[in-house]
Amino acid sequence: MSSERPVRDGTVEPYDVVDLIAKKRFAEALDPGEIAWLIDAFTRGAVAPEQMSALLMAIVIQGMRREEIRDLTAAMIASGERMDFSGLGRPAIDKHSTGGVGDKITLPLVPLLASLGVAVPQLSGRGLGHTGGTLDKLESIPGWRAALSNAEMEDMLREIGGVICAAGSGLAPADRAMYALRDVTGTVASVPLIASSIMSKKIAEGADGLVLDVKFGSGAFLPALEDARELATTMVRLGADSGLRTVALLTDMEAPLGRAVGNANEVRESVEVLAGGGPADVIELTLALAREMLDLAGFDVDPGPALSDGRAMDAWRRMIAAQDGDPDAPLPVARETETVRATATGIVQRVDARAVGVAAWRLGAGRAKPGDPVDHAAGVEVLVKPGDRVRAGDPLFIAACDVAGRMERGMEALSGAVEIGGAAPAPRPLVADRVYAPPSRS
Ligand code: URA
Repeated sequence: MSSERPVRDGTVEPYDVVDLIAKKRFAEALDPGEIAWLIDAFTRGAVAPEQMSALLMAIVIQGMRREEIRDLTAAMIASGERMDFSGLGRPAIDKHSTGGVGDKITLPLVPLLASLGVAVPQLSGRGLGHTGGTLDKLESIPGWRAALSNAEMEDMLREIGGVICAAGSGLAPADRAMYALRDVTGTVASVPLIASSIMSKKIAEGADGLVLDVKFGSGAFLPALEDARELATTMVRLGADSGLRTVALLTDMEAPLGRAVGNANEVRESVEVLAGGGPADVIELTLALAREMLDLAGFDVDPGPALSDGRAMDAWRRMIAAQDGDPDAPLPVARETETVRATATGIVQRVDARAVGVAAWRLGAGRAKPGDPVDHAAGVEVLVKPGDRVRAGDPLFIAACDVAGRMERGMEALSGAVEIGGAAPAPRPLVADRVYAPPSRS
């Protein structure tokens, strides 16, 4: 007997998220249909944040198989738009760093490649925690604006070759929402989650090639070299599986890169590099990444001369001006500085990148939560490198900040950041290895 009541419309979900959480908890693989539904349902609000958080924690603990990571990445790409740079008349090659302390390499690298005829679309983010964000650094240049329309971005790529701007909300929005949860639920440090998060955005960007700078050492998200290698291999394979030629360099982040850690001071150091000077490690890594990018672009050219003869500097000035920045304007300088001095005589064994990153953050260079303002003048000047000889009383760091009360906590973080010993430490190469997999389809 049929009821008189009309049947109501409603969405019947094909899966129950609690079943998926249980599957992953017991280390079973999720199938492609389950993963595609999960990401779509989370994006439209049919899976609650607390359910997604439980599943993310199960993934952190149990991991994911290669096919699951590929399906997760594809589902995150499908949550948003895809860009296309095929009409630029130049090869579009992208770069991504997994994040480090004093890592300002994007700033000299993008204009360097642009000056050599490569298009580099750098959709960047802001810093959170102890690693800095490229947009925060550039915003210390008076007038410079991070937000560009797609048309403005394409004009810059066509006319100058390089652009560094904010990623719009249309690229992989599922990743944006998942990352916000991961950040507050202790679920960031996971190879499948980091790899799918980074690669979904990079594949959606639609460049012709991608060079990854995967960091290891105390200042990196994954400090152990073997974890960084697994992350690099996973990302390179994800690129290859989707037809994006991807190369990764495994690079040392045990000590901060260069001398400047902060925002305005990192821009100043980058300009030094573009003027043909600057610290040796910043130049070495800029050139190593540039060579990989040129190789993917099919250009047989040495990038060194363009960095020292002013061509890269010209491209930088054009890039800054195109985004309303004044490349000649003075950058902010902090009102208060204090010096940390060596307490012993000997040889510097270690400069702890994480401690320096935390100090710069506490001094005001970073933010504790999304949306907080950053203090562009705050930061740390690192005066020593491992292997340097110091005498008790020599300066090791200069801490700088603008807000009363921040200095003490910043100085506290710096107090044990340098280890001094008797013998020279074993040298550590900046580029430890290279990971590449040929594309499995094009
Ligand atoms: N950067 C990202 O974009 N995602 C991560 O998960 C970690 C670093």
